[in-house]
Amino acid sequence: FVPPGSGGDGGGVSAKNALGDDLFATAYLTEKPAGDRSLAQGLKGDATYLIVKDDKTLETYGLNAVCTHLGCVVPWSAANNKFMCPCHGSQYAPDGHVVRGPAPLPLALAHCDTAEDGKIIFSTWTEEDFRTGGKGWWN
Ligand code: FES
Repeated sequence: FVPPGSGGDGGGVSAKNALGDDLFATAYLTEKPAGDRSLAQGLKGDATYLIVKDDKTLETYGLNAVCTHLGCVVPWSAANNKFMCPCHGSQYAPDGHVVRGPAPLPLALAHCDTAEDGKIIFSTWTEEDFRTGGKGWWN
């Protein structure tokens, strides 16, 4: 697999499902309800949440599912409207900011865009973290 624009950290990778197939925005949004947060394979193979907004479009960022405490994959709890880590109880808001420790940092961001061919593409988030107003800790 050669990601589009490969060769630099700025290159994107197509979001993939558990079978390793590329995800296409139109088909994906047909399947998923508003508010959905489901895992896809993202940058560096990291499990990354795709977010469906209330208007049934994809959020322009994805959230890396790796807990910033000790690295467990954090499940989304729709019932609680939070990401809740099963390992030591950290909780994250729907946008990935920490609402309960011990996690020290928000879930990492990735850009999420739809390519011309309809594929969902993740790329490195190098800008300010809009949740903290500072530099992204993952850069
Ligand atoms: Fe998530 Fe410890 S790894 S709370």
